[in-house]
Amino acid sequence: MIPIVPKYLKSFLKLIIPVILILLSGCYYDNYEELYPELSQDCDTSNVTFAGAIAPVIQANCERCHNGSDPNGGVLLTTYEDIKVVADNGLLVQVTTSSNPDVQMPPGNPLPACDIQKITAWVEAGAPNN
Ligand code: HEC
Repeated sequence: MIPIVPKYLKSFLKLIIPVILILLSGCYYDNYEELYPELSQDCDTSNVTFAGAIAPVIQANCERCHNGSDPNGGVLLTTYEDIKVVADNGLLVQVTTSSNPDVQMPPGNPLPACDIQKITAWVEAGAPNN
């Protein structure tokens, strides 16, 4: 065997490596569930209720910044009616599933994957007050 890379192979690699890098960068998902599916396999998203699953997560992780007369981002998350607004306009799923630090909520400290899946399932079910 010749211990050096043939010239034609070198130029082939020079061409193909950037192409592979571009293709790989297309596989980047800004979505927590798609990035970490293995963390959430045992998550039961059937029968997710607002009172049983959603309200406790929001109270524990969101309310301290999103309450009172001057909530962060102008977004109030204290009652069902408040939460319903961001559920219906897509922001609740967007901020909880995002891995972009400028968007992600809670900031820099994403919710556990199962909580995110429950929120998404509840919103997809029409965000009922159940
Ligand atoms: C440590 C404080 C803090 C916590 C905890 C927090 N947020 Fe926020 N939130 C902010 C700040 C600050 C902004 C405004 C960000 C901005 O405008 O750039 C914001 C903005 C938002 C917005 C509006 C985003 C937009 O694009 O308009 C939503 C929706 C939101 N938060 C939901 C949540 C949810 C849901 C949780 C819990 C899972 C949460 N936040 C937890 C501080 C917090």
